[in-house]
Amino acid sequence: MAKKTVTVFRGDGIGPEITDAVIRILNAAGADLDYEIYNVGEAEYEAHGALIPEEAFASMERNHVLLKSPITTPVGRGFRSLNVFLRKKYDLYANIRPAKSNHAVKTPFQGVDIVIFRENTEDLYVGVEEQIDQDTIHATKIITRGASRRICRDAFEYARAHGRKKVTCVHKANILKMSDGLFRDVFYEISAGYPDIEADDKIVDNVSMQMVMNPWQFDVMVMPNLYGDMLSDLASGLIGGLGLLPSSNLGENYAMFEAVHGSAPDIAGKGIANPTAFLWSACMMLEYLGQMECAARIRRSVDRVLEEGAFNTPDIGGTATTEEYVNEIIRLL
Ligand code: NAI
Repeated sequence: MAKKTVTVFRGDGIGPEITDAVIRILNAAGADLDYEIYNVGEAEYEAHGALIPEEAFASMERNHVLLKSPITTPVGRGFRSLNVFLRKKYDLYANIRPAKSNHAVKTPFQGVDIVIFRENTEDLYVGVEEQIDQDTIHATKIITRGASRRICRDAFEYARAHGRKKVTCVHKANILKMSDGLFRDVFYEISAGYPDIEADDKIVDNVSMQMVMNPWQFDVMVMPNLYGDMLSDLASGLIGGLGLLPSSNLGENYAMFEAVHGSAPDIAGKGIANPTAFLWSACMMLEYLGQMECAARIRRSVDRVLEEGAFNTPDIGGTATTEEYVNEIIRLL
């Protein structure tokens, strides 16, 4: 079989460091991949006048699979989020974020195993804001039946395929009766096709408390875009932080794999970023491409290094650099 070519965006902040680390590991593990690697983001804009070069889009459209490292989005000024843009452009509607405890990473919450399905194309992220007068801004929240249906369906399909017991819908339909009300109604319509899987719903503020008090009650969770954004960071806190939470963004024709965390400007260039979330995202990509054995080999090696503890990065309590951590993963492959 021909090697699969994937497109890679190196991003900015810690993006380039963790991209180079992950490509080294993929190569060492014998991933059957070729890479088309592009610099994207603010530095690329300053150097060549485009946040994402045309060739990078063309590559994505040729290969249909993108491994994307984080990109900085300035707050309250400048360009809109490239992440939101990419998810919309390629209709990557299902953002899947598995938050699973690793017994080697010490947190007060062992045994957490939650998979968040975040709707990725609408809600407040349509980015429609309007100045009504000098002191008033309106932001538009969009929820459609079609988008709600496909993300809820995917959550139930995933639950069934992975032997999961329950899907929880998260919403704020007590206040947003029409928009979140629609999401919740669609969730229960879809759930009727999956009598083997328990379906329940909870209000987002209550869920925020329950995830901290008793995260073990949650299994698969499905929600509109904004709640998914927030609760997945919360979920990362349960399992040891953002350095450990991977994701896939799937649509009908394209797939993008990225860490949940951002470009971490506070540690960029220091050589201490934890590449695990991005590496596990790459493992999700390998599994998506059917390269199960290679993904499993990498996962086993990471587990052993985390277990050893001597090569952990500072965000999870260690003192190692990214390079030392990566060298040890490669040594144990
Ligand atoms: P962030 O996720 O970049 O960082 C939050 C905190 O977690 C920081 O203290 C950071 O040092 C730490 N952290 C994150 N990833 C880490 C890693 N791999 N290893 C060790 N520590 C890590 O969130 P922040 O600071 O709010 O956002 C920075 C920029 O990233 C913003 O411009 C934001 O818009 C962008 N962003 C991009 C995303 C993407 O490209 N998918 C996702 C989230 C944010």
